[in-house]
Amino acid sequence: MALPPAFLDELRARTPLPGLIGRKTRLAKSGRNWKGCCPFHGEKTPSFYVYDDHFHCFGCGAHGDAITFIMRADGASFPEAVERLASEAGMDVPKPSAQDAARDRRVRDLHAVMAVAADAYHRRLFLPEGRPALDYLLRRGLTERTIRDFALGWAPGGRGALAADLRAEDITEAQMIEAGLLRRGEGGDPPRDFFFARVMFPIRDRRGRVIAFGGRILGDGQPKYVNSPETPLFRKRMGLYGLDLAREGAFRGAPVVAVEGYMDVIALHQAGFTGAVAPLGTALTAEQLEELWRLNPEPVLCFDGDAAGARAAARAAEVALPLISSERSLRFATLPAGDDPDTLTAKRGSGAFQAVLDAARPMAEALYGLVAEGRPAVTPEQRAALRHRLTGAAGAIADKALSAEYRRVLLDRFFAASRRPQSGGRPPSRTLPRPAIAAGPVQAERARMMFAVILRHPWLLPQVEEAVGLLDLPPGPATQLRDALLASTVAAEPLDSEGLIAQLARYGVEDAVSWALAPIGLPLAARAEALPGEVEEGFWHFFLRLRGEAELIEDQQDALKALAETNDPSAQRRLILVSEALDALRRGEGASGASGDAA
Ligand code: UTP
Ligand code: MN
Repeated sequence: MALPPAFLDELRARTPLPGLIGRKTRLAKSGRNWKGCCPFHGEKTPSFYVYDDHFHCFGCGAHGDAITFIMRADGASFPEAVERLASEAGMDVPKPSAQDAARDRRVRDLHAVMAVAADAYHRRLFLPEGRPALDYLLRRGLTERTIRDFALGWAPGGRGALAADLRAEDITEAQMIEAGLLRRGEGGDPPRDFFFARVMFPIRDRRGRVIAFGGRILGDGQPKYVNSPETPLFRKRMGLYGLDLAREGAFRGAPVVAVEGYMDVIALHQAGFTGAVAPLGTALTAEQLEELWRLNPEPVLCFDGDAAGARAAARAAEVALPLISSERSLRFATLPAGDDPDTLTAKRGSGAFQAVLDAARPMAEALYGLVAEGRPAVTPEQRAALRHRLTGAAGAIADKALSAEYRRVLLDRFFAASRRPQSGGRPPSRTLPRPAIAAGPVQAERARMMFAVILRHPWLLPQVEEAVGLLDLPPGPATQLRDALLASTVAAEPLDSEGLIAQLARYGVEDAVSWALAPIGLPLAARAEALPGEVEEGFWHFFLRLRGEAELIEDQQDALKALAETNDPSAQRRLILVSEALDALRRGEGASGASGDAA
């Protein structure tokens, strides 16, 4: 009895192959994959490879997925293997109802319907009636080989031709409607062809089964492309055009690259870029990104070199951010303005597209531009808005450690982009303080003191916000305060303490403010009557004790340099503070209570 393909896909996805196979034979990492001695034939030198979703032995040819592995290694039947893996993955094997069974059969039948339809369209491309379409494709530079690989076809303009072809294979009209090949007629009219006088692009799933079609008009006209309607086989958010071929390409080491159009995919494959795919007439979805990541940990998304392309890239980044991790990311490539991959390779050859790929930028580099794109950031309001969007983008990354890294990289760029040469005691910007790992209650208390000083003396903010923005802080109120401070609008007039607290309240961090200002143990610098020199000194004292040794050494070098350059008293004070902090750290004060730190 057939199990739903979606269930089996999820079972496979939830069963990491190296873990499963590693129980039977010792595996060692080999590049992105794993390698070991084949458990199915006696061998001394490893020729058994474990990939993301399958294993393959180059010695004996054993090949399969998690389920077949259990079947072969344990002699289990298919249902037994599924049952065993499902219980390990914490999944229930669905009990097929009569209804499910009927549905399965229908889906299987629909696959057959689509296969027959694709054959019929393809055959007609080579008949006299398909001649203009074939000429069109050849004129666009496709070889006959490519046309066959992609099984391109021709949907005739005459009435009922396809239906006649399919009826000869015992396919009913109801099935043709369900497969999206015919539309129901209106008011008792007979059904009509969905695709009429169009060049046909079969859309296949990852296993190469036809699930839908795209149809292009010959020459100009609107709509240029139509796609099959959503059917039991086809959800346009799910698939990728070219996926079946790209799997093969990726397996052989081709870069995985997502482009916009069907013709782009085809032209790229013909030019040797066999890892190319495209979404199905929509922007890239999360599901499609997941498919890409099954092929490669860092696929390239390729966008047009115009404003619309930049917008599309920004939208793709937005979809991807919550999903990326240290194991999977994206790169962004930009085409020369006015070209798509098809026209580019046609005019200037595959080298031109290779150059586009070579120039692809990793997510971490591209993101700043995508977020900042096309909006000025000159006035304080604009700059605050940009900073807000940047921290928002980093915050969208679900992977905590990665999110912190991104926040740092983005703010780093933000401050670097906005810094004006300054006289005075600020260290040169080249080496921005890199944050230390702050942990434990001692660090939390130090962070509290530092924020108390800021909250009582907001005039400090312009000179310290950059440093605070780059500090890694313990999660909880300290982090909330930092984010709210960074996100809040830079006021034209300096705020007083109450003004700042009121402004932060708009970010919902009242509790964190109360936490910071709880009176017990607050240092002199956090009192309203503290003198400016005491306030600055107090701030840097706690700030520097939130940092790690490596960062402090860097700070010390910066401070030394600043002092040599400016010879000004505040630079001198800073050098002393940094040196003290470093000494304190080396004496091991990091572990002692923080309230004794009071300035
Ligand atoms: P393009 O117009 O860039 O497609 O649209 P293309 O592949 O370069 O087309 P050619 O070169 O003129 O033949 C990109 C994709 O957007 C979808 C299709 O998936 C197309 O491949 N699209 C476009 C539609 O769904 N409908 C349309 O009317 C146009
Ligand atoms: Mn095109």
